[in-house]
Amino acid sequence: VTCDDLGVPVVRRAVPEDAARCAEIVRGLPDFFSEEVVEKVASDLRAHGGWIAVEPAAGLAVGFAVVARRPPGSAEILWMAVDAERRGRGVGAVLLDRLLDDLAAEGVDLVEAKTLDRSAGYAPYAATRRFWEGRGFLQVDTIDPLPGWQPGNPGAIYVAALRATRPSRR
Ligand SMILES: CC(C)(COP(=O)(O)OP(=O)(O)OC[C@H]1O[C@@H](n2cnc3c(N)ncnc32)[C@H](O)[C@@H]1OP(=O)(O)O)[C@@H](O)C(=O)NCCC(=O)NCCS
Repeated sequence: VTCDDLGVPVVRRAVPEDAARCAEIVRGLPDFFSEEVVEKVASDLRAHGGWIAVEPAAGLAVGFAVVARRPPGSAEILWMAVDAERRGRGVGAVLLDRLLDDLAAEGVDLVEAKTLDRSAGYAPYAATRRFWEGRGFLQVDTIDPLPGWQPGNPGAIYVAALRATRPSRR
């Protein structure tokens, strides 16, 4: 099954009522998210807002991203996930392209995403790092432990530039 069979996902801004479905998506990905973070994802979505990918055929939310603004010119993708049964079919790419376009239009220059570093040796996140790396994100640091993360989970810090930040030379 590809995106074409189910329709290209439609991306829209999140509303607080999306939090329950986002929590459900996260609960369906136990290799990636522990039960403790499920409520945090929902509360962060309500607090910060985000973007939702909807499968047109069913009108079902199948992916989401929660983004915190870091004024004046940065933002962090706090959480992002695609429904377990629909991963690897391009939903995440469509969602990410749209949210980066929207952030750029808002004046955001740099976007950060944190994930599990390869030195953890934990296989599921290899695809996640390929996802970020394939879409313009560069790893700028590794921090172990990241504040708030369980010890033994080295954090990989990724950044994508939406535009150049150096002042132009005269
Ligand atoms: C990471 C995630 C959001 C990506 O969404 P997705 O819909 O699965 O990704 P896409 O199908 O759009 O894939 C886009 C690219 O990522 C890469 N990719 C994604 N899944 C992959 C997999 N299982 N194996 C290899 N590459 C993969 C591919 O290179 C693909 O590139 P292509 O379009 O050139 O083929 C999703 O897989 C997910 O929810 N993962 C689990 C939770 C997670 O890791 N969240 C991020 C926390 S930092």
